[in-house]
Amino acid sequence: MAERTNRDKKIPLHTGIIMDGNGRWALSRGMPRALGHKAGMEALEKTVDNAHSLGIRYLSLYAFSTENWKRVPVEIEALMGLFRLYLKNKIEKLHSRGARIRFVGKLEAFAPDILEGVRYAEEYTGGNTEIDIIICVNYGGRQEIVDAVNRLMVDPPGGPVTEELLRSRLYAPDIPDPDLLIRTGGEFRMSNFWLWEGAYSEYYFTDTYWPDFGMKELERALESYAGRERRYGAA
Ligand code: FPP
Repeated sequence: MAERTNRDKKIPLHTGIIMDGNGRWALSRGMPRALGHKAGMEALEKTVDNAHSLGIRYLSLYAFSTENWKRVPVEIEALMGLFRLYLKNKIEKLHSRGARIRFVGKLEAFAPDILEGVRYAEEYTGGNTEIDIIICVNYGGRQEIVDAVNRLMVDPPGGPVTEELLRSRLYAPDIPDPDLLIRTGGEFRMSNFWLWEGAYSEYYFTDTYWPDFGMKELERALESYAGRERRYGAA
């Protein structure tokens, strides 16, 4: 994958983040989990600015997985409330920074007012070219591949299915594969994030809970990435 060079350092063109640890961050402070997600949204906002200033061109954030519907209704409601708040209050600031925002996942599961906000935000910021912010909501890597296969079945190719063809039916085939995938919160798993696209991503794991993830930690992740040799299976 292509990389950008910034101050003589290799910068990942696309960085993805699994924002884990909001609940534990809140509980460790005697606060309800919902307040952890609120703090997580603030961390997300700061990370967009930090990523932009470090030269990251595509930043994807795993905000709600296809499995997160299993959480208790009060937590799901809190997350939907934050989603609404984000769409209502944060899009103008993103636009003023030249950010293009996109939402990736099975979006039809969301309430009509959220869908309208999503459409507006994507259209309003669609011409911006400073940084692409990809918010993955109701996203699951397996579901994405299943959806791609179903799209192929509706419109079958004349010949064999190739990697390129299947890729072209994924949710956002124009976004370059993630070069670097970061997971906060101390767990060592990918939890169904970018399964196809992350085949050759470099991973960075940190114990830091997502609300505490700041510029220093992002720089540390990029430092680690810059020191790696990517061979894509070659010797
Ligand atoms: C994982 O932490 C985090 C989530 C499931 C939600 C992430 C959401 C945000 C950062 C804010 C929402 C923003 C938008 C735009 C919708 P966890 O709850 O699994 O933490 P834990 O492992 O400590 O319990």
